[in-house]
Amino acid sequence: MTPSYVLALDQGTTSSRAVLFDHQGRLCRIAQQEFTQHYPKPGWVEHDANEIWTTQKQVTEQVLRDHGVSARQVVAIGITNQRETTVIWDRTTGEPIANALVWQDKRTAPLCEELRERGLEDQVREKTGLVIDSYFSATKIRWMLDHIDRARERAERGELLFGTMDTWLMWKATGGQRHVTDYTNAGRTMLFDIRELAWDEELLRELDIPAAMLPDVLPCSADFGTWTIDGVDIPIAGVAGDQHAALFGQACFEPGTAKNTYGTGCFMLMNTGEELCYSKNGLISTLAWGPDGKVNYALEGSIFIAGAAVQWLRDGLKLIQSASETEALARQAGEAQEVYVVPAFVGLGAPYWDMYARGAIFGLTRDTGAPELVRATLQSLAYQTRDVLEAMQEDSGLTLQTLKVDGGAVANNYLMQFQADILGVEVERPEVIESTAWGAACLAGMHVGIWSLETIAEVRRVEKRFAPHMDDTARASLYAGWQKAVKRTLGWLH
Ligand code: G3P
Repeated sequence: MTPSYVLALDQGTTSSRAVLFDHQGRLCRIAQQEFTQHYPKPGWVEHDANEIWTTQKQVTEQVLRDHGVSARQVVAIGITNQRETTVIWDRTTGEPIANALVWQDKRTAPLCEELRERGLEDQVREKTGLVIDSYFSATKIRWMLDHIDRARERAERGELLFGTMDTWLMWKATGGQRHVTDYTNAGRTMLFDIRELAWDEELLRELDIPAAMLPDVLPCSADFGTWTIDGVDIPIAGVAGDQHAALFGQACFEPGTAKNTYGTGCFMLMNTGEELCYSKNGLISTLAWGPDGKVNYALEGSIFIAGAAVQWLRDGLKLIQSASETEALARQAGEAQEVYVVPAFVGLGAPYWDMYARGAIFGLTRDTGAPELVRATLQSLAYQTRDVLEAMQEDSGLTLQTLKVDGGAVANNYLMQFQADILGVEVERPEVIESTAWGAACLAGMHVGIWSLETIAEVRRVEKRFAPHMDDTARASLYAGWQKAVKRTLGWLH
């Protein structure tokens, strides 16, 4: 029998990837391409949506070619993506009206402040589960309508469409036939009522955004259209924002189970079941997933800079040539040096939500060198995770026994051990660390009837567990140093 496959498209912040899984759920092949990051001004981050589509198409073709798989063997496509990043395009020409505004972009901070001053915070939290922050799509859409020539009048005439990257890719893949998204991506716009599972008219009015621009919202496993590859119509059958897909792929099906994904940013999500749980400690509430119209909710701690800090070591400081060098370098760092890097390059997310914080390095001495900076950068991922875990435990009243991890940086054993040490919690690394792509593949595989929740849980195997070894005094003292450092970066731009 000819083997069949499910293809996951993982459209991340810095790269487009295509990941091929076989019928048994085994990862067979990955193709990946980085694309250009545009920083037109400090705090501004943009992507060229056409470049994203081109790279995504190329890696899709490449992964099939490299693995010797024909389009006929692909039974379904799942899409997962960087969330919140906002693109607006012309519905007739399909051309974006400007570069996409990336989730990290801070240009709408003043607009967010204005919304807070107008007293919208409670309404936003109650309906969307979010805090008012430039992170989410709503103020980015509004900024484009206000600043791009004739954008508002065109949007009001119904000529322009909005989408996050999933929507954009599906529009392109279906040749402009479908303008759709899923619950989880819609839930990150700050315009979607996650209790009603519908766009919220009042928020649209407050933000002055025409409803005609918005995509139709479907469950995460659904008929999103077809992508014709080599003359074969392949169903796009599963869609979820990357963090939601990872929670699913890590089989966090029970309330109280959590995962942390180390990508460009770092995002910890805890399943809270069918109950929408509001945070009192700086987390946001979000949709976990909803394959069939019934949804699960999650608490989320969003950390904006994680892998991006390692990328900064490579591309900005040029201290390393590849991320894989960081483990050995960190181990060479002087024991006695207490250096802290706070990578608040785009402000700070959970639990601080400070759009005006900026990055800083503390504790430099004459003998600080590359190893110490590298170690402090890696450690910043672990400290930020602890900030979030504390808030999550406080909110849920649960003490986490094990943290499931995934994403590129979890291959770093130094980081994983330090993570376990600084949390005082066991860290569990699965064999397949591509949980995001796997989650998207699963959502698609479920819709076409080849997989179920049971398959997903069965396929997940643990590769390594990191037990905490650090003594309590050392842990407390290191973490106190981090807290002192973070405090000094807050409100830096004010
Ligand atoms: O909310 C932003 C997030 O979805 C980006 O994920 O994997 O590109 O760090 P990632």
